[in-house]
Amino acid sequence: MQEASDKLRGERKTIGFVPTMGYIHEGHLSLIDISNQNADITVASLFVNPTQFGPGEDYKKYPRDIERDKRLLEKRGCSILFEPDADTMYSKYFRTEVYVRNLCRLLCGETRKMHFKGVTTVVSKLFNIVKPDIAVFGQKDAQQAIIIKRMVEDLNYDLKIILGAIVREKDGLAMSSRNIYLNKKERRDAVVIYRSLKEAEQMIENGERGVLKILRLMRKVISEKKSARLDYIKAVDTNGLKPVSKIRGEVLIAVACYFGKTRLIDNIIVNPLNI
Ligand code: PAF
Repeated sequence: MQEASDKLRGERKTIGFVPTMGYIHEGHLSLIDISNQNADITVASLFVNPTQFGPGEDYKKYPRDIERDKRLLEKRGCSILFEPDADTMYSKYFRTEVYVRNLCRLLCGETRKMHFKGVTTVVSKLFNIVKPDIAVFGQKDAQQAIIIKRMVEDLNYDLKIILGAIVREKDGLAMSSRNIYLNKKERRDAVVIYRSLKEAEQMIENGERGVLKILRLMRKVISEKKSARLDYIKAVDTNGLKPVSKIRGEVLIAVACYFGKTRLIDNIIVNPLNI
């Protein structure tokens, strides 16, 4: 992969990179589009990274369909697919980790303690392997995007991060490879996350600025579905991910919620200055 990237760079071609764990859906493909619009060649990686899954999480059963992924990616204009195996990425001598202090322990990091260290370590490796000019990440994983931007700035990676908007199913559920785990009822109920975010957005548009009130309504909307078990709802600033009490300037409202055993995340960024 490094040789291929060096060759492309020698030919003065810019490289766009879309890291994925596979089981490609329209959300991933929209990131390929963004890469194609911003770079000459698009590289995607397909690697279910073991180090970002905690004990008891879904590493083993994470959905995989490599042949289908290849077809979809190629059709959408991805030129190179980097598909390493775990032993290649992590030799038995592997010791080095990348850890973005504080940000990794908030929101999803409160319960998934090792998750973001696994993400930043593998993304750092992938950046060094693929040598992209730009890398495209999805806004659905808002905390991941904020942490990776922090890492890129702190460690002076010579690349630009671009974020792609959340792509949703017709009823509003954010696309995710994990949606496949949901049974019919859970799938129907899961749309309540989006509905709660829309209610929050509406309240803010109507002039409400108090976070307690907004989150209370969101909790109420979600609790109406029996299969929903809330992990967290938080309103935080988009740099330090610290909770805010008033909606002033840019605020991330993030939700993590279980439906059965499936944990889904979603978010919106609101900014009353833009209303
Ligand atoms: O967002 C994902 O799919 C993963 O966290 C990533 C960025 C590919 C790292 O494994």
